[in-house]
Amino acid sequence: QLKLVTIGGGSSYTPELIEGYIKRKDELPIKEIWLVDIKAGQEKLEIVGAMAKRMVKAAGLDWEIHLTLDRREALKDADFVSTQFRVGLLNARIKDERIPGSYGMLGQETNGAGGIFKAFRTVPVILDIVADMKELCPNAWLINFTNPSGMITEAIKTYGKWDKVIGLCNVPVNAMMKEPELINTTLDHLTYRFAGIDHFHWHRVFDDTGREVTMDIINAIQKGDAALPKNIFNVNFFPEQLEYMRLLPCAYHRYYYREEEMLNHSLEEFAGIGTRAQQVKKIEHELFELYKDPKLDYKPKQLSERGGAYYSDAACEAMTSIYNDKKTHMVVSTLNNGTVPDLPADHVVEVSAQIGAAGAIPFTFGPFQPAERGWLQLMKNMELCTVEAAVTGNYGLALQAFTMNPMIKSGSTAKRILDELLIAHKNFLPQF
Ligand code: NAD
Ligand code: G6P
Ligand code: MN
Repeated sequence: QLKLVTIGGGSSYTPELIEGYIKRKDELPIKEIWLVDIKAGQEKLEIVGAMAKRMVKAAGLDWEIHLTLDRREALKDADFVSTQFRVGLLNARIKDERIPGSYGMLGQETNGAGGIFKAFRTVPVILDIVADMKELCPNAWLINFTNPSGMITEAIKTYGKWDKVIGLCNVPVNAMMKEPELINTTLDHLTYRFAGIDHFHWHRVFDDTGREVTMDIINAIQKGDAALPKNIFNVNFFPEQLEYMRLLPCAYHRYYYREEEMLNHSLEEFAGIGTRAQQVKKIEHELFELYKDPKLDYKPKQLSERGGAYYSDAACEAMTSIYNDKKTHMVVSTLNNGTVPDLPADHVVEVSAQIGAAGAIPFTFGPFQPAERGWLQLMKNMELCTVEAAVTGNYGLALQAFTMNPMIKSGSTAKRILDELLIAHKNFLPQF
């Protein structure tokens, strides 16, 4: 009988998580679901928690749903812990986007200066959670999708020394949901292989005769039908570049391959409808108005306006795959171990893996060509500097991460952005 804990339970995505558990009720012998939040999120927790209770009741299940601000009580003897919290809530994200934006640089939830600062705020909290887990539920699995998901998973492994962790993201899920129909087939006829790091991976696809269909999908995507999460503006990749690469880039590669266009678009939005965090505030408000309806007992379709749609379902699938040793294919952040030989073996990568009782066993992808190898090594090492700076609070190292990040133009403006963000977020940065 399972005890499942979600930290950041007040998230508007929680109904998707509950839907995912209900879908798998015959595979997961759930007894208790604990939704944990903090004082600042208490109102959200109560609204979405009541909704979760209605969903479970409507499904005829007797699962206990506990809403609490006491993380330690929740973690005691947990079997699976999932994390979906946002330190500083959306107001902090607005600053991550607005401050770099006001200097003409792109600040995004997981990219550029915004992504680095989201890591700085989140790492101290996740390491506290891991410390609690060591004491209270040493055998639990940690399923993380708190962003920046790859860096947070890296911090959990490298600094938390916690190995039973799987990092998740919905970008590969989106790709596998939408691409098969672009080439008139279904997912069960295709084999996917992803490799890289979170929000910076590429993939190849093969049909059931072993023929590679990567180029067919590339051609279809160039017609404008890319499998993009809602938060990413669609600028097409240059076809000549993809034809040369013969790899499908992930949705976030736009920020790097078409940096100029993505920056211009984000600055336009910034001056008009507001940053993505401001847009999300509106969507979130609408969602919570719906969740307040005592008759609503299913996930409303408006949740699909959020960029992270389907990630909770992936979390549930990871849990049932581990619990039932299902050996499913999932794309996860996990220890490299030689899967991507261009990156260090003892750090986290995001790759295709088999998920079962042993956790994630990644599939070897092999070496990349020089361009992808160069990008990956730069990005992964930028992540390692960011995570170490988040642990130590070393200003010089933070500046190193800023200097390496391709979205941050280095120089005195970059240093000013760093200083301004340090002040703006000082309540959430005990280490600096
Ligand atoms: P949100 O703003 O609704 O935050 C979720 C909850 O976390 C809030 O209720 C908040 O009060 C709570 N919280 C904040 N600090 C906390 C702490 N120290 N302990 C416990 N709870 C705390 O966030 P959201 O939009 O639902 O996103 C949640 C997280 O999931 C974010 O980090 C986001 O970046 C991430 N996310 C990841 C993916 C992915 O692909 N990996 C997709 C979507 C969202
Ligand atoms: C994407 C990602 C997440 C990201 C989120 C943003 O698809 O995979 O990691 O942070 O969606 O969504 P939002 O609706 O909050 O802008
Ligand atoms: Mn993601």
